[in-house]
Amino acid sequence: MSPSVFFSHPQALQIILTSDDSKEFDASGERNAIFEPFLGSQSVIGLSGDRHRRIRKLMMPPFHGERMRAYGQLIADITDEVMQGRIVGKPFSLRKCMQAISMRVILRAVFGLEEGLRYQQMQRLLGSLIDEMSNPLSVSLLYFPILRRNLGPLSPWGNFVRRRERIDRLIYDEIAERRMRPNASRNDILTLLMSARDEAGEALTDVELRDELMTLLIAGHETTATALTWALYWIHKLPKVRERVLQELQGVDRADLGALSRLPYLNAVCCETLRIYPVGITTFPRVATSTVEVMGYSLEPGTVVVGSIYLTHHRKEIYPDPDHFKPERFLERRFSPFEYLPFGGGARRCIGMAFAQFEMKVVISRILSSFELALADKSSVRPVRRGLTAGPSPFRLVVKRQTRASNR
Ligand code: HEM
Repeated sequence: MSPSVFFSHPQALQIILTSDDSKEFDASGERNAIFEPFLGSQSVIGLSGDRHRRIRKLMMPPFHGERMRAYGQLIADITDEVMQGRIVGKPFSLRKCMQAISMRVILRAVFGLEEGLRYQQMQRLLGSLIDEMSNPLSVSLLYFPILRRNLGPLSPWGNFVRRRERIDRLIYDEIAERRMRPNASRNDILTLLMSARDEAGEALTDVELRDELMTLLIAGHETTATALTWALYWIHKLPKVRERVLQELQGVDRADLGALSRLPYLNAVCCETLRIYPVGITTFPRVATSTVEVMGYSLEPGTVVVGSIYLTHHRKEIYPDPDHFKPERFLERRFSPFEYLPFGGGARRCIGMAFAQFEMKVVISRILSSFELALADKSSVRPVRRGLTAGPSPFRLVVKRQTRASNR
């Protein structure tokens, strides 16, 4: 088996991530084969070389920063919708709320689903499938193909396959309906992907569309929900942080969602949230394709190289006092893309980066300007593994006061 080497020095990461699509390193999709049962064989995550570049090119435009603004109102409305059910004085699981928000955002902004039967079914089936994947036992099905035996609907793998087939049916039905009744005025990401053309004028096939939709869902749902849960934890754990965010929000018209992207302190809080406990602890693996020197180490061809995002974000010479949550760091200096990389970098840098950053700002500001919340439990919150990512151990918040009626 080829050795795996983890790097956290920015100089090493710069070498690896600026040449991960070259003769020296390859951002090989075969290394991500464990995701195939979920995402299918055409997912951007599993592709390599020219095929990977082609799909990324087709997928990137809908995720452009400016375009994200179009989804602001939708994200704000969904936040109100989910938070509406909170009762003053009754503790609630913040993670469950954030998962509900990020799932609905994906279903409406990415899939473009309207409220209705298909939306309800997708929400239920996807929710249960994803929940299961945050359970280490279920994740072992992905790591050990030998466990993947379909022994009927009651066996773990049989059950997974059955649910995946039902989800696929819903996605293919949606695509078929869109093809029959195209509507150019829609601005959801599925519509944009369906009209995208590559350099040869080719559109994405139905299988490609299905696999990319599943990829966006799996890559974007749990990650954003976790980032939001951490951010709101820190804001309510540290009163000074909360006060400063609130102060900054007071100077902004609530309806001007685009203005949120320009708030320096809110941005610093989101950045620090993803620094201290990055949701993705490492980048996807890259592979050395020739003998290559990295900071005095000679790597043989075939060596698997991984960027440790967590360790980079905890280097004392870059982030003094690295275990403390200090948003000011991001006001005091700029960090290079190899010192701060919660979304990875190079050929596989996260496609949903602008989307996730904007969603975090809209959801946080909407909640803080509508509710006065507090941590409901005294127990300490620490990072724990959640399937393929890392997130906070369970905790609850409680509504002390609703400061503004929703939808206003
Ligand atoms: C806070 C939320 C998120 C975090 C922390 C995050 C983090 C990451 C990281 C670390 C990578 C690997 C990059 C590398 O290996 O260099 C990645 C890849 C990816 N992310 Fe995200 N992500 C987030 C949200 C999203 C969202 C909202 C979407 C889409 C809706 C998304 C879609 C993707 C895709 C498709 C890839 C694979 C790109 C490729 O293989 O070329 N992510 N993300």
